[in-house]
Amino acid sequence: MTATRPEPTAGGEPRAAPGEPQAAGGERTAGVDTGILDELRATDFARLDRGGHVYLDYTGGGLYAQSQLREHLELLESGVFGNPHSINPTSAASTELAERARAHVLSFFRASPDEYEAIFTPNATGALRLVGEAYPFHRGDRFLLTFDNHNSVNGIREFARARGARTTYVPSVPGDLRVDEALLPRYLTDTPGDHHNLFAYPAQSNFSGVQHPLEWIEQAHAHGWDVLLDAAAHVPTNRLDLSRWKPDFVSISFYKMFGWPTGVGCLLARRDALAKLERPWFSGGTIVAAFVQREYHQSAPGAAHFEDGTINYLSLPAIEIGLRLLERVGIETIHARVGELGARLLDALMSLRHADGSPAATIYGPRSWSQRGATIAFNFLHPDGRVVDERYVDRAAAAHDISLRTGCFCNPGAGEVAFTISRRTLVGGEFGEGMTLDDYVRRIGLPSGGAIRASLGLVSNSEDIRRFADFAAEFVDLTAVPADLPPRRGC
Ligand SMILES: Cc1ncc(COP(=O)(O)O)c(C=O)c1O
Repeated sequence: MTATRPEPTAGGEPRAAPGEPQAAGGERTAGVDTGILDELRATDFARLDRGGHVYLDYTGGGLYAQSQLREHLELLESGVFGNPHSINPTSAASTELAERARAHVLSFFRASPDEYEAIFTPNATGALRLVGEAYPFHRGDRFLLTFDNHNSVNGIREFARARGARTTYVPSVPGDLRVDEALLPRYLTDTPGDHHNLFAYPAQSNFSGVQHPLEWIEQAHAHGWDVLLDAAAHVPTNRLDLSRWKPDFVSISFYKMFGWPTGVGCLLARRDALAKLERPWFSGGTIVAAFVQREYHQSAPGAAHFEDGTINYLSLPAIEIGLRLLERVGIETIHARVGELGARLLDALMSLRHADGSPAATIYGPRSWSQRGATIAFNFLHPDGRVVDERYVDRAAAAHDISLRTGCFCNPGAGEVAFTISRRTLVGGEFGEGMTLDDYVRRIGLPSGGAIRASLGLVSNSEDIRRFADFAAEFVDLTAVPADLPPRRGC
């Protein structure tokens, strides 16, 4: 895993000052020529600079190149595509494109088709739901997951609970928000008897950018766990090589990787693990035959068994187009670029000081550039140490045309540790009927409605970091914010 994660500075050279280009043109990063990304930004993503945007929410959603849209549209304009559930010529044309996209997904992740199946879903959440609802949880089985997980993974505990399986959370350590590696074996070895046990964790945290070790997959397998790797926040800027790592299930949203299209995700699943799943229903598309006078249905083989209804067949060709863009650029190139820029953004925040020398920002998660991705959670601080209201940060960022994310980013576990919210606080302070988020934040005594998240991606550049650093400087010696801030919305 570390092999594809070069340190941000080549040969131990000192880093440039925050917000300053590392080298002329910023084209070489940790020994990798990343100049192709500047060309891409100037051409295929010219709309960003035309509109003066600093886009720092790649973990929320990736951005698409204009050429992706053109190529997709040309393909749709030049053909006639019917519903793939038939065998007529237009249906066959759609099927061919869908199967090409499927094969391309497998090859992008270096997954052998003999070993892995690629199942198209509406998004990563759809992939996670497929596993959760069909995993054969029974009484005595275990669902183990890290505190640091997206709510779409947390939600699987409801399926586990309904079937009598026990859910256990592996805590994150305050500060770094990593898992105590010495503690993990205690959880993994706690598997009494012959059971179906599922362990779920994110390859990269959508909250803190922490990259949890892929080595856990083998450790968990050694103790009989099936492993669900949520790779949604990892794969846009990191290589996931399924010829090396063998999770049973992997969840992905393609818009996070290359922006277009939305509405398509994927469950990559090992064929032997898929065979364990027990779908709770059947639907159009998932069966070979079903009868009405006799309650019998025959499931379709392979991926079709898990693809409910009509797949998003007009969007699937855009998956192949997007993957080809990433291949042309090189995922290692993107990885190197966001590592370099992310380290500078982190430095910019950590070195931000008020006149009295006190910190003007606090980071939630790792403060060094090792085993982490370019997703950085933080808050600005007033000189007296109070957290700057995140709604004011939103407003100030908008004035700079900066797109950030605020709140808890659908990852409450990481947030609870970051903000040291105890279980007792949560149990005592129920989110009551008719309460607003503002009421709740006050009730449990939080200093703000959450963190700020800056995340980098495909065409992030030096100028983005420089403009972010200018924006961040506005918080130096800020003693108060206006009172007219809007109500908070849910996370
Ligand atoms: C780590 C992680 N998992 C799952 C999801 C859910 O993705 P989607 O909303 O596309 O289903 C996200 C979305 O941000 C995420 O970052």
